[in-house]
Amino acid sequence: MRVLFATAEAYPLAKTGGLADVSGALPLALRRLGLDVRLVMPAYPSAFMRIEKPRIIAKIPPLLGIADATLVEGKFPGSDLPVYLIDSHSLFRRPGGLYQDEAGAEWPDNPLRFAYLAHVSAALAMNRLGISWRPDIVHANDWHAGLVPFYLSLEEAERPATIFTTHNMAFQGNFSPEWLSKLRLPRAYFQPGGIEFYNQISFLKAGIRYADRVTTVSPTYAREILTPEFGCGMEGVLKLRGADFSGILNGIDDALWNPASDPALPHHFHASDISGKRACKAALQEELGLPLRPDVPLIGFVSRITHQKMADVILEALPWLCNQDTQFVSVGEGDPKMEAGFDQARELYSHRCATVIGYDEAMAHRLQAAADILLAPARFEPCGLTQLYALKYGTLPIVRRTGGLADTVVDASAASIADRSATGFVFDKIAVDDLKAAITRALTLYREPLTWRRLQLQAMAQDFSWDASATQYAALYSAASGIAIDLGD
Ligand code: ADP
Ligand code: GLC
Repeated sequence: MRVLFATAEAYPLAKTGGLADVSGALPLALRRLGLDVRLVMPAYPSAFMRIEKPRIIAKIPPLLGIADATLVEGKFPGSDLPVYLIDSHSLFRRPGGLYQDEAGAEWPDNPLRFAYLAHVSAALAMNRLGISWRPDIVHANDWHAGLVPFYLSLEEAERPATIFTTHNMAFQGNFSPEWLSKLRLPRAYFQPGGIEFYNQISFLKAGIRYADRVTTVSPTYAREILTPEFGCGMEGVLKLRGADFSGILNGIDDALWNPASDPALPHHFHASDISGKRACKAALQEELGLPLRPDVPLIGFVSRITHQKMADVILEALPWLCNQDTQFVSVGEGDPKMEAGFDQARELYSHRCATVIGYDEAMAHRLQAAADILLAPARFEPCGLTQLYALKYGTLPIVRRTGGLADTVVDASAASIADRSATGFVFDKIAVDDLKAAITRALTLYREPLTWRRLQLQAMAQDFSWDASATQYAALYSAASGIAIDLGD
């Protein structure tokens, strides 16, 4: 089975968040199952720098007014996964971020940039770029690729089946109808039954409405977004998809996130000997100028600093937290006001609190290894990956019972401690007191070394590798395309 996987980011070629982790790992897992998966994404400067063996394979004929583009084929770093990079200098080769300029403002031509990604992906899928490869499935991810299923639905010729995965309903790619003609979107579809959403063009709605199958990244979030509380206005559109909509839990890439071999760590460890974890903690304390104390519980936060991640509620809890015998370390970036709050906490409580503002992949790994506890609360969380990395690194996560967090962390209650299923701490309400109560429970258990050690082992034994989820995607591709695949046992 041939699959074209369309995405706006894939680690290590380009990353702003979990979408990149998924796009960098799921295609590889599917290839291990024997599927011929290929990736298509924009040729940002970072992607161009990291791709292996790049070569221009086609000049892309003028589309959406863009006439400067070529298609570059290369290999995904360290693998045999073919990657098609869409290399338009005017659209993608810029300084700044993937979606924003250096000052943090959204690129004003994002509708064009990602409609172009979709248009070229669709042309590639229809074999119109002169490449002798034609997919049976196109798997489009998030609003950036939301127009892929739409453009393909307009095809009169036989087309591949389409899958659309929403990784976050809060990011919708909604734009002014002035873009309709520029993006070659027929006006007839600009209505509530089509791609119109509150008088805007919605790339997310296009994906949900026109793909043959729709998925999201955990079973609980799949149920939640059918309700007004979580659906971000799209709950009705999703409901219309009925049984064609489902949730498949994300996995994590064991090759990148493994405390026994992670190149970002100063010391390695595994379940049967976690002395390396203590050494990682000491190294991080030293690096960040915190007192070198093995006994003090180190609480980490690795996250976008946003309302979704309850960064405001964490900030509210920080004075309380930093007045106890704990250490708090955060690595994150996002809302400038909240970033300033974390910086302020560092100044006020420099002996207990360190904050790294910015995006630092290696630091994220070092903190996951060094911390005893990871704060990963959220108002909503489609899946969440940091709590999965924490489990793997023997760092017990504190999460709110929502979305993928609810699906992956077992609260340490008396019963789950007794039956040895506990892996972390789960709270319910979006309230600082509930967060504090969960932290207090964690700190209390931390003072019981034998129980803590057992919980760490239970956490580290969890298997969230991609294999099971990749098998579910393969089954979905098979159902959508009508092509049988032999997945072995
Ligand atoms: P989301 O995609 O909603 O931000 P996830 O938990 O799915 O949340 O994925 C976040 C990913 O981004 C993880 O790989 C996490 O380690 C990483 N990450 C988030 N913030 C930072 C940061 N400031 N520096 C390094 N990595 C970060
Ligand atoms: C989004 C979600 C996050 C999920 C990630 C990968 O960024 O916010 O919960 O883990 O996508 O699917």
